[in-house]
Amino acid sequence: MTRIFVLNGVNLGDLGQRRPEVYGTLNLNDMENLLHNAFPDVDLEFRQTDYEGEMVGFVREAGDADGLVVNAGAWTHYAYALHDALEAVNVPKVEVHISNVHAREEWRRHSVISPAVDAVVAGMGVEGYLAAVRYVLSQKAES
Ligand code: DQA
Repeated sequence: MTRIFVLNGVNLGDLGQRRPEVYGTLNLNDMENLLHNAFPDVDLEFRQTDYEGEMVGFVREAGDADGLVVNAGAWTHYAYALHDALEAVNVPKVEVHISNVHAREEWRRHSVISPAVDAVVAGMGVEGYLAAVRYVLSQKAES
């Protein structure tokens, strides 16, 4: 069975309550259910953490899977350790942002993790995660 890690980072545990006008009203549980329903034949390893070191561990674990999708939250903008962890794993990797980070504050426009992933999705809400998983699956089909 294809195994894909879906990783959500810092503050994303508050999804649904945190700035719903920006991040929508679905919480993480809703998102997990939606993804499981959309990809019933995929073993989705859905994780969230507010600890950067734990996230690095998840990324390393994902190196043994078929790919990973990561929303690193605010770490996106400054966490070089996460960049290095992503760079070290050789699986299809997609960076996702629920909001369109390019239409927001200046500091959100730069991602330090983008150079270490294959693709970036921003501004598509939860749809972005679906697109990201689909991309990872397409890469597996090609290999
Ligand atoms: C986010 C965008 C980040 O700038 C922010 O810090 C988040 C969420 C998004 O999904 O739009 O926590 O990654």
